[in-house]
Amino acid sequence: EFKENTSIVVFGASGDLAKKKTFPALFGLFREGYLSKTSHIIGYARSKLSTEELRERIKSYLKFPSDDTKLVDEFLSLISYIAGPYDTPEGYEKLKDSIEQFDKSRNVTESHRLFYLALPPSVFTVVASKLKEICHPGSKGLARIIVEKPFGHDLQSAQELQSQLAPLWSEDELYRIDHYLGKEMVKNLSVLRFSNSFISAAWDSRSIACVQISFKEPFGTEGRGGYFDSIGIIRDVMQNHLFQVLTLLAMEDPKSSEAEAVRDEKVKVLKAIKKFDEKNILIGQYGKSADGTKPGYLDDDTVKPDSKCVTFAALTLEVDNDRWRGVPFILKAGKALNEGKVEIRIQFKPTGDESFTKVIRDELVIRIQPNEAMYLKMNTKIPGVRSDLAITELDLSYKNRYSDFYIPEAYESLIRDCFLGDHSNFVRDDELDLSWGLFTPLLNYLEGPDAPTPESYAYGSRGPQQLIPYLEKNGYVHQTKAYQWPVTRPD
Ligand code: BG6
Repeated sequence: EFKENTSIVVFGASGDLAKKKTFPALFGLFREGYLSKTSHIIGYARSKLSTEELRERIKSYLKFPSDDTKLVDEFLSLISYIAGPYDTPEGYEKLKDSIEQFDKSRNVTESHRLFYLALPPSVFTVVASKLKEICHPGSKGLARIIVEKPFGHDLQSAQELQSQLAPLWSEDELYRIDHYLGKEMVKNLSVLRFSNSFISAAWDSRSIACVQISFKEPFGTEGRGGYFDSIGIIRDVMQNHLFQVLTLLAMEDPKSSEAEAVRDEKVKVLKAIKKFDEKNILIGQYGKSADGTKPGYLDDDTVKPDSKCVTFAALTLEVDNDRWRGVPFILKAGKALNEGKVEIRIQFKPTGDESFTKVIRDELVIRIQPNEAMYLKMNTKIPGVRSDLAITELDLSYKNRYSDFYIPEAYESLIRDCFLGDHSNFVRDDELDLSWGLFTPLLNYLEGPDAPTPESYAYGSRGPQQLIPYLEKNGYVHQTKAYQWPVTRPD
């Protein structure tokens, strides 16, 4: 475990990700007592900044009770800054000296070094290699390195990246972040599935009719269209975030809670997924909002004028094993939609009892964000003398039930796992291979010469017109009309 006197180096310290996510996560851990006051945090980037300037930049992103500026100052005082190039040794030498001096001043016998790479892929390997060469403690300590997506652009580039990293950093030292694995409800999936007998008993094709995993964002690519244009929503969130959720939903009970046991089971799911049916995919690209106030994707100057970049996609796949054969898994993700919401919807098969005419499918909804919740839509008798059915729900809303609990940000939770040396919630190399193996042919088709044109949808709408027919065709039954809540007293 990395506890006292750990050196944490944040690469890309002056960038957006570090400012918005990495430093605030370190601060969150500090605030909650999971990051020791004896830690040493070094920001590293190319920009010529002073330590004071870096601290100033970070400060406004830290979340704290307004009267606790002391805590903030204490945290900021742990941080220093080194400016240096990524591709030549000078800066790394300074970094090494700084860590060694720190270790010496604390009489550290085993040096603990955590390197956090909040960097674009273009400099990723060079930094990893210089770090290994110059800043790794070797036999005098332990080093861990956290890396951020994108882990490649397709199967080939992911494998190339891996083959460059593997000789430098062992899988044991490497922590590939997919921040969805740090989200509270995603971490809850295994507990939910494997510690509740009634859920566990119903978790297969005999009971489940359809699974939908849906990611909706209310904003477009404003300001980063140029970056997004070669990525698209499938690479941005499906191949990684939604696939992680999928494997946790579908895997068998791992033999132990050991990281490798969990990851072995996730890999088995990936191996069982059938090749995607390219013809059965719905793709969209957002246009202007209905009232014309929000720009369409193509209005961004940094985007190719005839870009077919996909900003919305729905894809149906099958996990071809005994548990899941025949159950459609629908993944849906879109930008510039009517709301921001990430949720899992599990629809159960009807009981088949014909005496109940109004029955709906039971549906378990796990809301990952916003406002973590889990609720089960189900049939009950309308209260009173009548015996008609009504739809209601068993509702676990975290805000009500756990009002006093502190739910960490995903990054906090993951950095803490890394301190603890726990890989369970990080991505293993073979997971990447398999998921890229599935997505690459689809992406090649969508980006190739015969690429279909995505259906346009209005910024702020629910997505392409074809969405509801698409979902219904693939086995998801819309029951919003039948479902009203709260149920008012019937006449
Ligand atoms: C990132 C994507 O990985 O995840 C972004 O690159 C997306 O485009 C983000 O907005 C969503 O993360 P979250 O935690 O806000 O749901």
